[in-house]
Amino acid sequence: MSLFDLTDKTAVVTGAGGLIGKALCAALSDAGAIVAVCDIDFNKANSLSNDIANNSFPVELDVTNPESLQSANKLIINNTGKIDILINNAAINDIFASDSSILKQSSFENYPLELWEKSFEVNVTGTFLSCKIFGNEMAKRNYGSIINVASTYGIVGPDQAIYKDENGKQKFYKSPSYPAGKGAIVNFTRFLAAYWGKNGVRVNTLSPGGVFDGQEKYFVENYSKKTMLGRMATPDDYKGPVIFLASDSSSYMTGANLVIDGGWTAW
Ligand SMILES: NC(=O)c1ccc[n+]([C@@H]2O[C@H](COP(=O)([O-])OP(=O)(O)OC[C@H]3O[C@@H](n4cnc5c(N)ncnc54)[C@H](O)[C@@H]3O)[C@@H](O)[C@H]2O)c1
Repeated sequence: MSLFDLTDKTAVVTGAGGLIGKALCAALSDAGAIVAVCDIDFNKANSLSNDIANNSFPVELDVTNPESLQSANKLIINNTGKIDILINNAAINDIFASDSSILKQSSFENYPLELWEKSFEVNVTGTFLSCKIFGNEMAKRNYGSIINVASTYGIVGPDQAIYKDENGKQKFYKSPSYPAGKGAIVNFTRFLAAYWGKNGVRVNTLSPGGVFDGQEKYFVENYSKKTMLGRMATPDDYKGPVIFLASDSSSYMTGANLVIDGGWTAW
């Protein structure tokens, strides 16, 4: 098991207070890492940090803001002296003006430029900036593992039929910005893996599939049928994969995309 041991490693997790982030932080902490629990929402980060054993601390940061990332970096380095693991997990889905406008606004023909730009700002630029600031700490010390969280939608396009209810009514469309941004993450990962290979910093993508979070019955059924395992994911399904990527058990793996999607993209 020592291959998976993270004792004395510092792990930085962005978007830590969300559905998947919580599970990733708990897994890293269980494996022995000191976890910097980072989120734009300090209350979420703080309460998660309190829930995890005493090897964690909360950090408020906005991945789209270089000054905020610099202050967070200073705080983390003051606390632990180094960064060994960076998980770029923070991301957003579109927020539409109202329930009644979702179907119209999410269609490609009407999709607003502002939502496209906001999505790219958080999901793509946020990862780029976090890698520049936190990843540079790793490159300076010639050691580290960066995990960029993408999605099945970074590999394949959305099948809009899964957003139709039992009566065949399209409820909304998965919009263009999320898949485009997640696809960008997969190839940005390859860029950075090639660039920092000489510095001993490994950079990989983790591509999760959809997590059950109380979605409507029609959607859960449609989604589950698209997977080989016949179900949506739980946040815990990502614990093992993240420890594998973060630890020396994946020491010869870089530039790769670890797809954990119940088989969604394999048929
Ligand atoms: N949930 C899924 O089904 C699913 C599927 C595939 C991929 N993913 C990916 O997994 C990752 C985590 O998803 P999730 O479902 O846990 O998301 P979530 O919405 O539950 O959590 C995202 C977290 O990011 C934080 N955040 C938002 N903007 C931020 C910013 N500018 N700076 C710092 N923090 C910010 C939010 O406060 C929130 O706590 C994302 O990259 C997402 O795209 C999720």
